[in-house]
Amino acid sequence: MAGLQGRDFLSLADFDSNEVGHILSMASQLKAKKLSLRCDRVLGLLFTKASTRTRVSFTVAMYQLGGQVIDLNPNVTQVSRGEPVQDTARVLDRYLDILAVRTFAQQELETFARYAKIPVINALTDLEHPCQVLADLMTIQENFGNLAGLTLTYVGDGNNVANSLMLGCALTGMNVRIATPSGYEPNAAIIEQARNLAAGKSEVIFTHDPQAAAKDAHVLYTDVWASMGQEQEAENRMPVFQPYQINDELIDLADNEAIVLHCLPAHRGEEITDAAMEGSHSRIWDQAENRMHVQKALLASLLGTD
Ligand code: CP
Ligand code: NVA
Repeated sequence: MAGLQGRDFLSLADFDSNEVGHILSMASQLKAKKLSLRCDRVLGLLFTKASTRTRVSFTVAMYQLGGQVIDLNPNVTQVSRGEPVQDTARVLDRYLDILAVRTFAQQELETFARYAKIPVINALTDLEHPCQVLADLMTIQENFGNLAGLTLTYVGDGNNVANSLMLGCALTGMNVRIATPSGYEPNAAIIEQARNLAAGKSEVIFTHDPQAAAKDAHVLYTDVWASMGQEQEAENRMPVFQPYQINDELIDLADNEAIVLHCLPAHRGEEITDAAMEGSHSRIWDQAENRMHVQKALLASLLGTD
């Protein structure tokens, strides 16, 4: 899709519903080996937080496109010594073709995008995790054949994944129910954005009742109760979040064909039980695999192919 070339991907809402549909369809064709693309460019990965899936799936995707990857670990660059983002961004822009950034503040990511002319991708911030949600939508579509009209229920912390999921559901016509403890709701500005995107098409609902939210849902989704950067809060959060667990009882309330998703890494026995992760409803491993297919489609779309 010509309209995607050269763009940044900082939030799921940077794409419209047609553009999301295009990435998902391209990713499915890549996965089915019905499409083969060449993109002989260089991707930089600048991650200030840990990552297994995002790092490896972006790397393999770029290699399979015929491109190369440079791991710009802050500890081996001047980033950890405090070089200003606007300077790093302008220099990396002269070497790289595309840059994926994982960091804390969305504002820092936006500064990278402002000072680098090359496409900048959000590989996770405290506010959003849009690449994850592209893979989630792909996994849901693989299972149900469509997205519009389905209901996704997210239980747990109103975090970066919940924020991007709200936008992803709203853009694709899915109903979304978010069940969090009081005080742990998603970002207020993104709630507003999701409601505007969904207006007249689907529902965006908030509750503190995970059982009510799970009733007849097609997708049950959760994520860790304390995200990267919130480790010191983890212990205090434990009792508050206890009722917000995906387990067999919650799955029984959902649609018979419901699927269980988790972005990983999971804290088994906290936000999800072993049985739910390993059970017949789980599509967690397909979901992880799909990171690579959607990101390959994303890279090829933002860069253009050779
Ligand atoms: N889901 C996800 O982004 O995993 P990593 O933190 O391992 O990249
Ligand atoms: N919400 C989690 C997602 C990890 C992929 C975090 O930010 O740590």
